[in-house]
Amino acid sequence: MSNLHFAGAMSHAPGIAAFRDAASPAQRQAFFGGTDALREAAGKARLDALVVIAPDHFSNFFIDNMPACCVSMNESYMGPVENWLGMDKYQIKGDAELARLIMHHAYAAGIEPASSAKTDLEHSVIVPLSLITPKFDVPVVWVMMNCQVPPLMSLRRCYELGKAIRAAIEASGKRVGVLGSGGLSHAPGAPEADTLDPDFDRYFLDLLDRNAVDKILAIPPERLDAAGFGSWEIRLWVAALGAAHDRRPRTLAYEPIVEWDTGCAVAIYE
Ligand SMILES: [Fe+2]
Repeated sequence: MSNLHFAGAMSHAPGIAAFRDAASPAQRQAFFGGTDALREAAGKARLDALVVIAPDHFSNFFIDNMPACCVSMNESYMGPVENWLGMDKYQIKGDAELARLIMHHAYAAGIEPASSAKTDLEHSVIVPLSLITPKFDVPVVWVMMNCQVPPLMSLRRCYELGKAIRAAIEASGKRVGVLGSGGLSHAPGAPEADTLDPDFDRYFLDLLDRNAVDKILAIPPERLDAAGFGSWEIRLWVAALGAAHDRRPRTLAYEPIVEWDTGCAVAIYE
């Protein structure tokens, strides 16, 4: 019996919290329908801990010191750091024991993440948590992956990191979930921010629904660049897929929501 009891991935656009009502009612209904299903699955899983694989948008790390990936060893987290999200501030328990196991298994797999005992949560983690574990009562391990400052980990390397996370989960003896948080097409702050790439998003989600892992791992960096630099964040989906490599991904929702500046998708790995 596996210790992985929940796995999924979703977009984390700050607009989901900061300007939620800017999106049309139909698009909101579709997107939140997906996150409702994910929340229900996470609730039924009665998780001891949730590993959130998400980037950092210069809240904890900047170009002067940017790890490729970093495992948070926090005993507890504060967040969100962004006042403009309009959310309350939360203190959320960490799971340092599981974080240490993730470090151990990553190193054993030939991947050496940075570690930190003092990260603060930002929208990339808090927005998904507000929708999936809205009581913020499930201890979290944040695995940060750099999706901002090239060079970035290859998709295959992200997948392998996910498999190492899974090995840690299996060694933990706990009921654990994994959530990838990021993407899809967007280019926040860029002149083309209002131009999403639904063709790329649907292409990626179609590969996901067909569990075409090799094709996903072979997506050329140039195709991601063309979809907007925010699409570099599919790395989080891919890492979660590595953790759930024996499960079947299924897209629950997809809407290109221009008002949130992001191709917004939700998937469960069943
Ligand atoms: Fe992001």
